[in-house]
Amino acid sequence: MKILVTGGAGFAGSHIVDTLIAAGHEVVVVDNLFTGSKANLNPQAKFYEMDINDPALHDLIEREGIEAISHQAAQIKVPLSIKDPGLDAEINIMGTIHVLEAARKFGLKIVFAASAAEYGTPEYLPLDEQHPLNPMSFYGLSKKVNEDYIRMYGELYGVNYTILRYANIYGPRQGRFGEGGVVSIFLEQMIKGQPVNIEGDGGATRDYIYIGDVAQANLIALTSEKKLTVNISTATRVSVSELYVTMKELTGYPLEATHGPARVGDIYHSTMSNQLAAAELGWKPETSLRDGLAKTIAWGRTVYGDAK
Ligand SMILES: NC(=O)c1ccc[n+]([C@@H]2O[C@H](COP(=O)([O-])OP(=O)(O)OC[C@H]3O[C@@H](n4cnc5c(N)ncnc54)[C@H](O)[C@@H]3O)[C@@H](O)[C@H]2O)c1
Repeated sequence: MKILVTGGAGFAGSHIVDTLIAAGHEVVVVDNLFTGSKANLNPQAKFYEMDINDPALHDLIEREGIEAISHQAAQIKVPLSIKDPGLDAEINIMGTIHVLEAARKFGLKIVFAASAAEYGTPEYLPLDEQHPLNPMSFYGLSKKVNEDYIRMYGELYGVNYTILRYANIYGPRQGRFGEGGVVSIFLEQMIKGQPVNIEGDGGATRDYIYIGDVAQANLIALTSEKKLTVNISTATRVSVSELYVTMKELTGYPLEATHGPARVGDIYHSTMSNQLAAAELGWKPETSLRDGLAKTIAWGRTVYGDAK
């Protein structure tokens, strides 16, 4: 298949591109390099430096003969969404509608990168897909609104879609501002031998999923005929302390972390069920936290210049 990956020069998008190419698909990337980088691009992918809101996007999709879309492009910074909700909406809401219009026009399947941020404070754990969506930022709200648009495009225009609600992703190429940012922050500090500060008591948990598993979910979803909304997660809770200790061991970091105040408004525990993805897509995560962190650290050493 010939697949368009929006945001394919970013962290998640670039891994999805690699996985699709390895599976024998042809890939076209559209990315305006807002946070992405050309260095992430697979040389076998055809790259267009373009905004998803660019009116030329639809012509490009038609000219390239695109058969399906993996829509990963977004502004992902929660604080930026709170500071500038209009900018967030322009990229995340209007941008997604523009991509959806192409899906409608050309009859394309769309796979969408949704987020745990849509759930807000958990009423119960693990969060399943029936859990109410109460986002606490404009970023989370934009993803929730995106989902509603996508399902309505499905109902009104027959657009085929899979909505993947990602847990906290980590892995090589991740910037420090993403949702799974704590791994990339610890990574850089540990490899550079800088002090590590844990915000709060270290007991806060998240569901950390390795990027390779997320890319695999995208590959499967692209050929699924069902209109689905599913969590992509490990269904396990890992505390910041556990993450720190595992990374300390794997990097050989010699210092002890300091503890600062917890971030105001942060959720303490979170994890997401992945039973629906297993049942409907036949997908489950394959990478253990230790293996995923080891791969991430191996990459980190090449970037932060540590040869230990
Ligand atoms: N990283 C996570 O833990 C996580 C969790 C849940 C959901 N997500 C979602 O996954 C997707 C990928 O996130 P990521 O962590 O790889 O972030 P990222 O910032 O690395 O990737 C986003 C990409 O989109 C591009 N982009 C931004 N605005 C654009 C525009 N207007 N036109 C074209 N390209 C544009 C950026 O340049 C970047 O390459 C996003 O939709 C994000 O909301 C990520």
